[in-house]
Amino acid sequence: MASRGNFNSRLGFILASAGSAVGLGNIWKFPFEVGAGGGAAFLVIYLFFAFVLCFPVMTAELAIGRHTQSSPVGAFRKLGFSKWSGIGYLGLASGLLILSFYNVVAAWSFGYFFEMVVGNFEIGSHFSEYVSNWLKIGIYGIIFMSATAFIVSRGISHGIERAAKIMMPLLLSLIFGLIIYSLTLPNAMVGIQYYLLPDFSKVTGAVVYSALGQAFFSLSLGMGALITFGSYVKKETNLVSSAAIITFSDVCIAFLAGLMMFPLVAYLTKGDLAAINSISGEESFIFETLPAVFQSLGPVLGIVVGSIFFLLLSFAALTSTISLLEVPTAFLVDEKKIKRSKATWIVAGIIFLIGIPSMLGSGASEFFANFVKLPGSDSSLSFMSFVGVVGGSTFLSLGGFLISVFVAFIWRRKNFMDEVRVENETAVNGFLRQYVNFAIAYICPIILGIISLVTI
Ligand code: PFF
Repeated sequence: MASRGNFNSRLGFILASAGSAVGLGNIWKFPFEVGAGGGAAFLVIYLFFAFVLCFPVMTAELAIGRHTQSSPVGAFRKLGFSKWSGIGYLGLASGLLILSFYNVVAAWSFGYFFEMVVGNFEIGSHFSEYVSNWLKIGIYGIIFMSATAFIVSRGISHGIERAAKIMMPLLLSLIFGLIIYSLTLPNAMVGIQYYLLPDFSKVTGAVVYSALGQAFFSLSLGMGALITFGSYVKKETNLVSSAAIITFSDVCIAFLAGLMMFPLVAYLTKGDLAAINSISGEESFIFETLPAVFQSLGPVLGIVVGSIFFLLLSFAALTSTISLLEVPTAFLVDEKKIKRSKATWIVAGIIFLIGIPSMLGSGASEFFANFVKLPGSDSSLSFMSFVGVVGGSTFLSLGGFLISVFVAFIWRRKNFMDEVRVENETAVNGFLRQYVNFAIAYICPIILGIISLVTI
């Protein structure tokens, strides 16, 4: 059998996984969820889920992948439990659904980069026209998906690892540059206060649920992306500490995105808390509001800061779309023995087609804009929101639940621990490993089980 490829270095693996985690979820979704969920109150709940619940599930995914050297569907069969391959298929379905709408939002961001370069700040007030221009968004979408497919088709070390090694440092530099700049703006501290002072009165069941969904989505968990990445990791790599570093990096970048965003909103609203409150909780916030912030910086600075922001967002999206495309690609390579380059372009094409209703539902088509009527109310969900709720949150928490049950009670914790134990383990590593060992059986299945049940 031809070699499946491997990450060349631990750093490359960590950067690629952190790249998968850091994406639109951190820079587009996280700040508005924080805005709607009571600032730091949301942050605290989010951190709890990320470290207490997601970190053990991440370690489990990586361990399954590395032990079996296989993508999610084959992994369960290789462990001797073919009946559990359903988890792999569920992951595959989530991956296809997520990438189908994710590519559309990535296309918006990529298009906004060009709008900022030519100084078209008015675009923020014409956002709905912009997203209903299906031809334009379609072209950006094709370009974005092709860039993703190009990188994935080049394989693990030459494609995914190399791209992460270039894009991740760039992304961090852009974020730090923008944070420093936004902190110098008038009223920056009002924004920071809004962000960091908790308002627990806003915390409802729905907020807690969305913090969990956000943590799973942001850490790319529950759909086998990390089983797939784990399958390219060398035996001597320490998975527990790697998972801790990946979780920590993702959470840090989400936190930094907030530090960058809230001063900008406070600047625009001249420090008016009520206005910050109403603007920052909006889903379309970065597309509708931020261009006005950039405009107010004056033509030259506005173009520089605005272009950097949307470039940053596009890079963050690209390191995530790569990992989303890798899951079905690895499935075709491992299970159907299709050549990687061919497999990549086939799946990319199919996913682009699945994404067309999401693209049309943002304005061009009434039918896809009001795709699902919500029972007992006048409102409805667009195709994109529907796919987001199903693939991007329900399937992921269900996937996380099934993975933890599988590892704890079917594959067994002893085998799991044998896979992740390292020689000369440090005390901290030992503690984290023991925590993972406990949580995967007693914390993750219970909390994720309850949540999955409530959702379904
Ligand atoms: N973690 C990515 C983000 O926060 O934008 C989204 C994502 C990527 C979800 C890869 C799932 C996945 F497998």
